[in-house]
Amino acid sequence: MKTTEQLDRDDTLGFLRQLYDLPNDKCYLDGNSLGALSHSVKAAMEEVVNREWGESLIGGWNSHGWLELPLRVGDKLGALLGASAGETLCCDNLSINLFKALAAALELQAPRKKIITEATHFSTDNYIGEGLARLLGPDRCEVVAIPLNDLDTTDLHEAAVVSLAHVDFRTGACRDIAGITKRVHNAGALVLWDLAHSAGVIDPGLNANQVDMAVGCTYKFLNGGPGAPGFLYVAERHHQAMNPIPGWMGHADLFAFESSYRPATGIRRFLTGTQSVISMKAVHAALKDFDGVSIDALRAKSLALSDHFLSLLDHNPVTRDVTCLTPRNPSQRGSQISLRLPMGYPISQALIARGIIVDFREPDIVRFGFSPLYNSFAEVQSAVTTLADILRTECYRDARYQQRQTVT
Ligand SMILES: Cc1ncc(COP(=O)(O)O)c(C=O)c1O
Repeated sequence: MKTTEQLDRDDTLGFLRQLYDLPNDKCYLDGNSLGALSHSVKAAMEEVVNREWGESLIGGWNSHGWLELPLRVGDKLGALLGASAGETLCCDNLSINLFKALAAALELQAPRKKIITEATHFSTDNYIGEGLARLLGPDRCEVVAIPLNDLDTTDLHEAAVVSLAHVDFRTGACRDIAGITKRVHNAGALVLWDLAHSAGVIDPGLNANQVDMAVGCTYKFLNGGPGAPGFLYVAERHHQAMNPIPGWMGHADLFAFESSYRPATGIRRFLTGTQSVISMKAVHAALKDFDGVSIDALRAKSLALSDHFLSLLDHNPVTRDVTCLTPRNPSQRGSQISLRLPMGYPISQALIARGIIVDFREPDIVRFGFSPLYNSFAEVQSAVTTLADILRTECYRDARYQQRQTVT
């Protein structure tokens, strides 16, 4: 086993850390929730506010190509996801994009009406499905939520679309996107993947795997900033589907102001209204930090970071019996390690107080997220050493760590 120092010395992506504006006294292991701020994003914000908006005002829509940003940033995202140009939009947020994608899938698959989803999917994914079912009524939409383990034995021949997470937000388990997509297609259904926790760290191979639709956010491993826009991928073969929220930005001729809707051709029809230019510019700049870095190299480093974490955990007498919810098999592991700790919330607060920035999910899960762009092996070691010390001293029992914050 290589030492932490050797791992950092041999890390060919280690130089990327300098692109980020991270405090030196903290180990930021929460890129799975909110990515770090890069210097290029900071500079882009100055530029878009002071020069583009400040100097060009309304003219910026023409002179700075603001109108095309959702497609331009979408294509940059698509390149990281294995999509072809013209299949990905950066817009709205994951939840809204999911609504559009599910409705489009139901339309394409009529008279099939079932949305099969995982019972423990991220909350919004199932809320959006339920909302659509209420809106369309039982003749046109029915949501069936199943445990993911039951997918193999569920008859999908009546399913319109199967809606799943590529990486589970609680456990960090990474699903077999190729195998599941094939199985869903064999039953004549479409597949919709939520890439929130994989975009930027794992190649989902959207084209190679014949994925029909996908949604995701850009504020996690893509570092687009708090509340940054989401993305929507629709395979070209499905571009005839209608956008259920048809707005002027998706119209064939938006400045004709026609009284009725005529959809634009291509992915543009899935736009609805005006997008946030400032946020979109942040995403654009954040994606530039990926230029010249292969997604396979990022995946390899992400797995090396989590391997090191698991190995240090196993070798420490205080932590070796802690339950790890994340699969040990690297091909089934996302870019986070989720530990089940009965006193999880106060432990997460004690870690944060000592500069190890993690997060907590009910009822007892502490998540350690690893960004291959800016995390080091020394930070991984520091996280395990600090966790062991907190568990050994039981300092998490201190009253100040019990107070619940709104965002955990
Ligand atoms: C897996 C997953 N799906 C969906 C969402 C919701 O995304 P948004 O709030 O941007 O719509 C999140 C947010 O963290 C998420 O982690």
